[in-house]
Amino acid sequence: MAMVSRFAFFLLWISVLSSTTHSELVISRIDRRVDLSSHIVRALFSMKVENVGSKVVSEVLLAFPNMQAKNLAAIKTLYNEGRGKVKASSVSLPTAVVEPEGMPPELTFYSVSLPKGLEKGGTVSLDVLAVFAHSLQPFPEEITQADGQLVVYQDSAYYLSPYTVKVQTLGIRLPGGRVESYTKFPNAKLVDSEITYGPFENLPAFSYSPVIVHFENNYPFAVAHELVREIEISHWGNVQITEHYNLVHGGAKTKGGFSRLDYQARSSVRGASSFSHLIFRLPPRAHSIYYRDEIGNISTSHFWGDSRKTQLEIEPRFPIFGGWKTSFTIGYGLPLQDFLFKVDGKRMLNITFGSPMDEVIVDNLIVKVVLPEGSNGISASVPFPTKQGEEIKYSHLDIVGRPVLVLEKSNVVPEHNLYFQVYYHFNNLSLLGEPMMLISGFFLLFVACIVYMHTDMSISKSSASYLAKIQLEEVQATVQQIQNIINQCLAVHDKLDASLRDLSRTGDVQSCKIARKTADAQLKELVKELKPLVTFLHHSPQASHIWPKVEELVAKEKDMQEKMFLRHSTVVDCFEKKLGGREIENRVASQQQKLAALRQEVDDLLEFLDEI
Ligand SMILES: *[C@@H]1O[C@H](CO)[C@@H](O)[C@H](O)[C@H]1NC(C)=O
Ligand SMILES: *[C@@H]1O[C@H](CO)[C@@H](O)[C@H](O)[C@H]1NC(C)=O
Repeated sequence: MAMVSRFAFFLLWISVLSSTTHSELVISRIDRRVDLSSHIVRALFSMKVENVGSKVVSEVLLAFPNMQAKNLAAIKTLYNEGRGKVKASSVSLPTAVVEPEGMPPELTFYSVSLPKGLEKGGTVSLDVLAVFAHSLQPFPEEITQADGQLVVYQDSAYYLSPYTVKVQTLGIRLPGGRVESYTKFPNAKLVDSEITYGPFENLPAFSYSPVIVHFENNYPFAVAHELVREIEISHWGNVQITEHYNLVHGGAKTKGGFSRLDYQARSSVRGASSFSHLIFRLPPRAHSIYYRDEIGNISTSHFWGDSRKTQLEIEPRFPIFGGWKTSFTIGYGLPLQDFLFKVDGKRMLNITFGSPMDEVIVDNLIVKVVLPEGSNGISASVPFPTKQGEEIKYSHLDIVGRPVLVLEKSNVVPEHNLYFQVYYHFNNLSLLGEPMMLISGFFLLFVACIVYMHTDMSISKSSASYLAKIQLEEVQATVQQIQNIINQCLAVHDKLDASLRDLSRTGDVQSCKIARKTADAQLKELVKELKPLVTFLHHSPQASHIWPKVEELVAKEKDMQEKMFLRHSTVVDCFEKKLGGREIENRVASQQQKLAALRQEVDDLLEFLDEI
């Protein structure tokens, strides 16, 4: 096969090595499980290591061919304390790249530091999880929209180790589709989408036997070439997260053009490996969620949540096929008290590092933590190596700008979605900087006015006006949230409208009814969100001047909803009675007019509130 020559192997020097191996240790048993069900390869090695030498040993070496090591995104070793079957607790052991002497340059070595020296005759059980990105090669490299995606994975049937291995097995778990071929020697078995090799006994150090598996994998190969996550802290109570994605489908490239008709009409020939939905798992109590691309806000997103998580599902404007790219931004707010703590007189931000998106590989991740103006003594603690730098961000009202901690990491997988901490000093007086600036600004203005107009004005105590400013900000934020929700409602209305247009085109009453049901559920959800905000405004004295407008807005939207649904029923009803287009138009004409008028009023109110 032509393919095999492309994967011609690289380990020919093995016999040279036996003399330099670490003879103190042997692996008395290793079971390797490789999971190929997504596009991220996860290999779990459960091994038992025995010291057969005379010296105490404090490290265990793991070897990977360089070709594999360059894709190794994360590695973690767990050491099981406690004996026998009862695993009392597992401890994560430091695992780092080393360059032991006398080893071949084609291999990359990792050293696992044991918690205590392993005596002569002693054994230790380790679980190593190695996570690889970009390790499934599409073959063929180009497919049409109708094809399933085939990929190639290569490994060794024998565990490549600097130690003698007494007993070993290998299991390769496949996603369950077609299996084109797999290396059958040494004795291999394929049962229920799992290929097993072994058991093999008493193999010398550096034994190697290449295996290649060629199989169908239609998992969405979501790869972010670049992701910039901005985490902005406001001591007024919010952590704002903005994530800019530059996403590509990293699977087999699509050839022969894309047919939306095929994609939508015939589900059997639609791109099995394309993706049309992306799932994000956000922290609980995430709010003010939005999703937009270069064109503007996209309303085809849904989110729901409970006390443990918020799930966001977004739908790009078009399905993403192999080789296709898309860029978009999502943003959300989080309650400050969930992530910012005081530790030894310092502030500590404790938040997750990686992307909240499901099973995404991020080639280059940049995390920017924007701290409040006046923060200093900034340091970060990240559970893996990152490149760190600092910059300054300016926004309105900033005097010296906000310090930004920039963390950069390549080859990021979901296993990097760990908590990291940023520590900084912050003087509460700095918090007053901006309000003070405003207040003194206003003060000067007042003084100027007084001087100019010779009128007698009294200024309330600055602390009171400071408080007022905060309350006003809160009111403004709430109004903005209400506007957002109303805008989302309007988007649902538009979709419902579209479903009627589809109906007149296709005559498909059933999907029109489904659209209505969806719209109904979405609107109910939005109304539920609206309620606490409206109640807050109603009882806020600072909002008294705009309350009537907000109340009117909410009422008008509600009215619109009722009329929308009424018109929808009328049209669907007419269709079911098979009435002509003219007749239908006559029946809904007056409803149509009322709706248009209402929409105008709602738009005007939104605009009015924008200007506050
Ligand atoms: C998109 O939504 C965000 C947040 O809801 C809002 O701030 C922004 O103004 C919207 N942009 C457009 C173009 O509608
Ligand atoms: C950060 O938060 C996580 C989850 O709440 C917690 O498990 C962890 O201990 C925290 N880390 C620190 C240093 O407080």
